[in-house]
Amino acid sequence: MARLNSHYLKLKAGYLFPEIGRRVKVFTDANPEAAKRLIRCGIGDVTEPLPAAVREAMHKAIDEMGTREGFHGYGPEQGYEFLRQAIAENDYRTKGLEVADDEVFVSDGSKCDCGNILDIFGHDNRIAVMDPVYPVYVDTNVMAGHTSEADEAGRYGGLVYLPCTAENGFVPEIPSEKVDLVYLCYPNNPTGATATRAQLAAWVDYALANDSVILFDAAYEAYIRDADVPHSIYEIPGARKCAIEFRSFSKNGGFTGTRCAFTIVPKELECSASDGSKKPLHPLWNRRFSTKFNGVSYPVQRGAEAIYSPEGRKQVGDLVNFYMENARILREAVLSAGLAVYGGVDAPYIWVKGPDGVPSWTLFDFLLREANIVTTPGSGFGAAGEGYFRISAFNSRERAEEAARRLASLDFGKAA
Ligand code: MLT
Repeated sequence: MARLNSHYLKLKAGYLFPEIGRRVKVFTDANPEAAKRLIRCGIGDVTEPLPAAVREAMHKAIDEMGTREGFHGYGPEQGYEFLRQAIAENDYRTKGLEVADDEVFVSDGSKCDCGNILDIFGHDNRIAVMDPVYPVYVDTNVMAGHTSEADEAGRYGGLVYLPCTAENGFVPEIPSEKVDLVYLCYPNNPTGATATRAQLAAWVDYALANDSVILFDAAYEAYIRDADVPHSIYEIPGARKCAIEFRSFSKNGGFTGTRCAFTIVPKELECSASDGSKKPLHPLWNRRFSTKFNGVSYPVQRGAEAIYSPEGRKQVGDLVNFYMENARILREAVLSAGLAVYGGVDAPYIWVKGPDGVPSWTLFDFLLREANIVTTPGSGFGAAGEGYFRISAFNSRERAEEAARRLASLDFGKAA
């Protein structure tokens, strides 16, 4: 009989968001009236329409595709030159950061890239993740066989968990042991924290000293308001030798359903081969792309390119500001309910500490039952998230305001 990948059997329950969906369905099926009032602040999925500049560029691209001269079949797997150049130029070079066009790999999403990147690493790396953590980093390592079973708290053997707590501002301490791969995500999902230049510099120094690679997820960089907070790991000297950066058009341009993202793999970044020699990762990622991917569709890449046009920038800026105003409204509501609140200032996520001793899923059920609001339980992001819940600011203004009214009037003391 054919054998399955038994590493999948180690995975805990469902992936977090489908599991939330399942629980919400059970609740709404049993409470049809409450279902009508439901406000979803769980998954960080955008709600507002695509920017006009993006839509116009996509319409034009579709029309081109309807002509013999403008038709596009398979494109370059790594992305069309026009988009790779727009990204490298606008997101990096104009900001004084060295990134060549062919170091940009255009893909259908950062979630996919964060999982797929494991294809080019060996199976014997020591891997560190933040706790709480975006579950994709952990689950893809479980699937790849990089862990043993999970313990009762949901921590997998073989991974190094870096606690992110209110005390350390949700930025992990540099580990005393050596790790080969470390996932960092700033602005952070789920805590909404940011890392300072000095904190990221300490990680880059650590990686250079230990020949480690930083997998830097910057999917939420557009939400940074504080001028001192770095948007890219490449703002830190030396990072080109030790870091891969993931970015996305999902949360700035509203592309969660349109699908387009990119990864930067600098040519200087090297890892050790089994014979001990050092080899660059760039050709491996390029090879992986050419073999396993046929690229993002032409109209979508034209839409992504339009984000960098003057109108596109303005419209995306307005979108981001819109969600950040939601974040402010929701943040203040939870503060007024008397809870400790983090994030929501340079990130679209608000990370809330519930009353002492109340587990995250109890808080989730309480909010669903009493306020008909869907949140994300902090423990779903890892053991260090226990006792917290996350509110996403991706919503219409009307719903964000209504959710804020309900949150502000809740007696969280009754959640226990
Ligand atoms: C989240 O809610 O954490 C995000 O939507 C997940 C994602 O971007 O894949």
